[in-house]
Amino acid sequence: MKKNLLILISIVLIFSSFKKSNVDEQPDQRVDSVLRLMTIDEKIGQLVLYSSSWDITGSTIKEDYIDDIRKGKCGNIFNAHTVAFVSKLQKIAVEESRMKIPLLFGYDVIHGHKTIFPISLGESASWDMEAIEKGARVAAIESAASGLNWTFAPMCDISVEPRWGRVSEGAGEDPFLGSKIAEARVRGFQGTNNNLSDSLTILACVKHFAAYGAPQAGRDYNTVDMSKRVFLETYLPPYKAAIHAGAMSIMTSFNELDGVPSTGNKYLLTDLLRNELGFTGFVVTDYTSINEMVNHGVVANEDEAGLLAIKAGVDMDMQGEVYSKYLKKQVENGLVDVKLIDDAVRRVLRVKFMLGLFDDPYKYCNPTREKRLIYAPEHLNAALDVAKKSIVLLKNENQVLPLRKGEKIAVIGELADSKRDLLGSWKAAGDWKFMKSILDELKEYNGAQNVIYAEGCKKMGEDRSGFSKAMATARKASKIVLVIGEDAEWSGEAASRTNINIPGVQTELLKQLKTLNKPIILVLMNGRPLVLSKENELADAMLESWFPGTMGGKAITEVLFGEYNPSGKLTMTFPLNLGQVPIYYYAKNTGRPIYIENPKYKSRYIDSPNDPLFPFGYGLSYTTFKYSEIKLSSNELTDKGELKASVTVKNTGTYDGEEVVQCYVRDLVGSVTRPVKELKGFEKIALKAGESKTVTFTITPEMLAFHRLDMSYGTEPGDYKLFIGGNSRDVQEANFKLK
Ligand code: BGC
Repeated sequence: MKKNLLILISIVLIFSSFKKSNVDEQPDQRVDSVLRLMTIDEKIGQLVLYSSSWDITGSTIKEDYIDDIRKGKCGNIFNAHTVAFVSKLQKIAVEESRMKIPLLFGYDVIHGHKTIFPISLGESASWDMEAIEKGARVAAIESAASGLNWTFAPMCDISVEPRWGRVSEGAGEDPFLGSKIAEARVRGFQGTNNNLSDSLTILACVKHFAAYGAPQAGRDYNTVDMSKRVFLETYLPPYKAAIHAGAMSIMTSFNELDGVPSTGNKYLLTDLLRNELGFTGFVVTDYTSINEMVNHGVVANEDEAGLLAIKAGVDMDMQGEVYSKYLKKQVENGLVDVKLIDDAVRRVLRVKFMLGLFDDPYKYCNPTREKRLIYAPEHLNAALDVAKKSIVLLKNENQVLPLRKGEKIAVIGELADSKRDLLGSWKAAGDWKFMKSILDELKEYNGAQNVIYAEGCKKMGEDRSGFSKAMATARKASKIVLVIGEDAEWSGEAASRTNINIPGVQTELLKQLKTLNKPIILVLMNGRPLVLSKENELADAMLESWFPGTMGGKAITEVLFGEYNPSGKLTMTFPLNLGQVPIYYYAKNTGRPIYIENPKYKSRYIDSPNDPLFPFGYGLSYTTFKYSEIKLSSNELTDKGELKASVTVKNTGTYDGEEVVQCYVRDLVGSVTRPVKELKGFEKIALKAGESKTVTFTITPEMLAFHRLDMSYGTEPGDYKLFIGGNSRDVQEANFKLK
């Protein structure tokens, strides 16, 4: 009794000291002062994350999570938002549980919380780091205003697999660009200076560690198998960049890597992540991924799965109820050293201190602020800005675009009149009912009398009964705007496809409309690269709009009418046909490259060219740009020196426009084979019609480092090629030597 009273007094004393936020006291000391008072059940509670019943993304749900919060057996919640709901749960934690430790509230705020930005793949096509950071910033502001303090983003999975639906959540195929985007997103979520204690920043979570973007055959959750060299060179860089940018949590992936599921992979979670990369935050699993190690076949039951996970370095169990069921017994039986648990709890508590939750557990729970910040006009403007910048003009024959205001257009396609689809997958708390569709926006801009609509057909299915009405409608207009693509839920998690064509009979409708001999402008909505070979033959213009978010209808309208000159560039290669997949610009040359003389025995297809339909980095503008030859400051780069490579880009058309100037290199001879091109720099510039600008890239030896034959990281002297251009295919070339 006396002992209990003493403990109670110490808790009260320690908590009053949390509140004073003593800046002189080291966070680790504060963490330890809490840890000392915790029972083993309460410690394990901090390592548990349960979904509220609001939104679920997996197959299980814990009914009595509220009771667990009260008992100190659940320290973290996801899928709960709004100030009203979050404060209700937080109140239980800080007023009814013995230790009064505040909860973390996580949610998949991937491309916006209420104001939805384009899907991440779309945003990446803007190549605009400021705009991308701003997108994450707005997402942080709105989610923090809704009570949240943790997002499960950024997703840093590189992928060359368009069959995999989750490419929509990433930044495309390139490790260099992917790293820049990962950093921008972490800055956006956590604040430019990683100011986690600010009540309008949220904790970022790097996911899915690791190599989740390379499932065999593009099937979600499938086996990943790659060489260590490929992993380190191509897949690791964006995770690493996000960690170095300060992200304080990381999520394990569902897949195995080299035979070991990530969630039980000590090499990944301890040796690499903590010891080599110096990560000091905490590791959370993906949804029930501890349990799934039984299905993977590396453990016989959940008990063993938990053991494997904690020993590998997993701190927090998402939804699996494995730590809560087995860890305590394992400690009692001497199977788990309590030090492992203490370290994991320390990492979680430390982040809670950094967020300032101990000072004020309700810091994200201000209903007036919530009202003011959700859908704030500047947030909608930022979403519009990125949506416009993410649109990629793939084709524009005879300058059919931009449209002229007042010309009569026929708008066809179910997607033209869909609000829900504009948001794409992972729409968080985005609400489409108040939004405007593409059709609404086109009418508003061009006058309802100049915009006539017919659905034509659905996104999916075989129904052709609307074709004749679509034809009749199109006959009455001078141009046809056909909006086709995928359903919003056809990309994202668990949305892999074996054919990546435009679904249903949408392309057949395009074929029919083509017989009218009127210019056809295709607006595409999709979450992955598609095979667009047929559409490319039939349409006069093609605009890739991805799933452009809350302001998508307006963004598309402004681009169609030339209020904004498109500047987006693809961040994943668009194949000519599915058989080419995986296809990416940083391929190796092989011993029998396609350009050798032999007519047969070379690396090629007998039924298709090797080249994709649209290469990485590709995107047109309403204007044209001309690149000068490359000027090098020297033909030699020394060990500690640098080399400047410049080109002058001229806007040779009649519209003002923006261009993403891209710089690639090729290491011609290495101790191991090297890619034919690797992106090393880019700059997005604005040029008035007729204007020229010189863009200079600085090349340093560090930029040329790679994992050499013995796996050491560094450079090798020799000959290099340098390329600069507006995409990865059409480039100027120069040569230099690394001494
Ligand atoms: C997804 C994660 C997501 C988690 C929580 C999982 O199914 O793979 O990306 O963060 O659910 O919703």
